Amino acid sequence: MKWIRRVGLGMLALAVITGTGLWIILPPVSYPVMGSLANFFPAYFDAPSADSDVINERLKLADGYHLSLFARDVPGARVLRNTRAGDLLVSSSALNQVLWLQRDLSGDGHSAQRKVLLDNLDGPNGLDIFEGYLYVAEESRIGRVAFDEDLGEIQSEYEVLVDGLPSGGNHWRKTIRFGPDGLLYLSIGSSCNVCLEVDERRAAMLRFSPAGEFLGIFASGLRNSAGFDWTPDDGVLFATDNGRDLLGDDFPPCELNEIVEGAFYGWPFANGMANANPIADPDFGVGRETVIASSQVPVFDFPAHNAPLGMVFLKGKNHPLKLDMSNTNVALVALHGSWNRSRKDGYKVVSLSFNTKGEVEMQDFLSGFLRDGEVIGRPAELSESNDQFVYISDDYANAVYRVAPGESTGLGPGLVDLSSGENSPAGYARSKVSEEQRQQAWLQGPALFQSSGCVACHGFVTDEIVSKAIASEGRVPLLDTARRMNLDTVIKLLERPKPPMPPFQGSPEESRLLSIYLLEKTL
Ligand code: HEC
Repeated sequence: MKWIRRVGLGMLALAVITGTGLWIILPPVSYPVMGSLANFFPAYFDAPSADSDVINERLKLADGYHLSLFARDVPGARVLRNTRAGDLLVSSSALNQVLWLQRDLSGDGHSAQRKVLLDNLDGPNGLDIFEGYLYVAEESRIGRVAFDEDLGEIQSEYEVLVDGLPSGGNHWRKTIRFGPDGLLYLSIGSSCNVCLEVDERRAAMLRFSPAGEFLGIFASGLRNSAGFDWTPDDGVLFATDNGRDLLGDDFPPCELNEIVEGAFYGWPFANGMANANPIADPDFGVGRETVIASSQVPVFDFPAHNAPLGMVFLKGKNHPLKLDMSNTNVALVALHGSWNRSRKDGYKVVSLSFNTKGEVEMQDFLSGFLRDGEVIGRPAELSESNDQFVYISDDYANAVYRVAPGESTGLGPGLVDLSSGENSPAGYARSKVSEEQRQQAWLQGPALFQSSGCVACHGFVTDEIVSKAIASEGRVPLLDTARRMNLDTVIKLLERPKPPMPPFQGSPEESRLLSIYLLEKTL
């Protein structure tokens, strides 16, 4: 049945036009997975969470962040990787492609445009960029192409570096990342739920040179470590792992492991428990006391069947999540959600805060994909750009979301506050500006705006009709800036704008007055 997974909707679906509209009929046995088929059908449709209104109404985000629907109609959006320029690469095994989604250029929170970078791949999943090359992990091989990150352009033929990787079975997607040591790490999941693998490269993490030379098995006993990342300061490697199925709703936990070279993480003999002895697996653990005792326990347990996939340690300095100085590191993890639990669970992005004592605290970061058993999205993978945007893929809604810290420096325009309202971190808070300053701003603002050359690119800050005309000329209307930016972010933007906008040359006082004027005008 393996082939079916790779066949697109176009070949399998039957479109029928009836009196009540267009119906798409899928053959009922198209997925080689267990669980409710209804869980998987919508993966090819625009699920409700690809709709901005639904996002506004349902999704809940941690304080101090904004959310936007960065891109929709990205079938099977999975691994994400930002380029140096801030654009986003996305792998899709549904399309067998790697896509390039341009960063938001207009400030509306959406990707400006997209293109197919690589096509006709075989189950592409893992992506990384290293020393001028884009690396791709397909189902049974790893390849690379020369890649210009700034232009988002491929500059060579696709070169296969590693071939003959074990394929098929349960966990066929491969994840790759370059480590701080400049070596390529590859995670290969198990072929089954629990079994004794024939190929020792399964349920393991492997290491290669950048040219594809196999350097050995780095860690083993990892059932399915789809996501891994290194701590930003000291380069310690952590990986998510999905616990086995069919031992009930609440056992075993999914895991977060600290991965050290040569260590064994228990599968299929032990089910790890953080801060406790691993528990022998009823199917393969009996009589394996020695190997179980030698296995590493997780540093953190996720609830059973939550299916943690992508993880990323936040590197940006201005994340509200990093304000608590007792935390040494903060990671975000995408919980893809359970398929075999009597009550669904997961379906959210969580933050893990590591405190100085080595304890890990989990909190919801982006939730609301699951409500009363109804699923509207499944977060899968994550990436953080240099400008501190966090991107989240959803292979159920075929969407990519973008999350930005609210009041950080250097973000520039592009903050879209879909969660606007009283608690919104963005939005001009008029109450913070004195009446006197506002009057001054109204008096001096128009002249400052004109004499500083803003008019050339923005036209006059004015009404909707004129703004639309400006936009149609390729200029940037300042229409609802006050809803999306606050005084701090406008002042910072004037100081350090994104090209082509030049930095404001006036005094700090003038910058403040001009900013207040713009915000008042666009309220
Ligand atoms: C050379 C053209 C250019 C000039 C001159 C310019 N800007 Fe901009 N400005 C832009 C562009 C382009 C953007 C959108 C950039 C982006 O989204 O990355 C922008 C964005 C902005 C935004 C954010 C708008 C929003 O709602 O997201 C503000 C505010 C702004 N400019 C104010 C000013 C002011 C004030 C001046 C004069 C001091 C100025 N700009 C001069 C090109 C210009």
